[in-house]
Amino acid sequence: MKRSVLILGVLLCTALASSSQSLRAGFYHWQRVVDERQAETKILGVLDRMVQSHETYLSVPVEDGKALRLLTEATGAREVVEIGTSTGYSGLWFCLALQRTNGRLTTFEIDHQRASMARQHFREAGVEDRVTIIEGNAHEQLAKVKGPRDIAFLDADKGGYVDYLKKLLPLLKPGGLVLAHNVDMVPDYVKAVTTDAQLETIIYTAGGGLAVTLKKR
Ligand SMILES: C[S@@+](CC[C@H](N)C(=O)[O-])C[C@H]1O[C@@H](n2cnc3c(N)ncnc32)[C@H](O)[C@@H]1O
Repeated sequence: MKRSVLILGVLLCTALASSSQSLRAGFYHWQRVVDERQAETKILGVLDRMVQSHETYLSVPVEDGKALRLLTEATGAREVVEIGTSTGYSGLWFCLALQRTNGRLTTFEIDHQRASMARQHFREAGVEDRVTIIEGNAHEQLAKVKGPRDIAFLDADKGGYVDYLKKLLPLLKPGGLVLAHNVDMVPDYVKAVTTDAQLETIIYTAGGGLAVTLKKR
């Protein structure tokens, strides 16, 4: 009799301990979902306000912003390089994904005033710790960047796209992506990414024309 009571007690304690463990795991999961939703809402709020108050400059349209987020999040990218920060609009679309993948953005801007505005927008959106802004001419400053990177986004001087491609490809992981905006303005770039056997390119036209190039190996 005593033995069976003891066994029953042990079984009861084990059941209670394991249910409290799964309750705790459920609570942490729920807390993470709430935190991620709050972070997302905060970034979307700043993106919205930037558009309403005309704090963008030659920024990507919303269709391309969504594409940047989707490609980054779906590929689990953690290291993104952007050429052409402007006031931080496309950078914030990347940050929507990077806060899910726990990644980082390095972004280049030649204009000091726009870089300062971007810094303020990243702060307001709560993502300043994920972003490094490098001021100056990206053709020269790119030498400071080390690989491996998952995604590179080109959205600056169109005449420089082929040079950026040459400098960025060695830093990109196999399976990484080069995204280039307004590709209807850069036929030499389109030729470069569609004739190289190590690359596969598609062009997404819902927004401003985004070439999506996979580095195959
Ligand atoms: C089209 S805007 C970028 C828009 C931004 N990607 C967005 O969607 O919010 C181009 C930016 O590239 C910057 N830029 C142009 N040439 C550059 C260079 N050589 N190095 C760094 N930035 C450059 C410009 O000052 C400008 O702010």
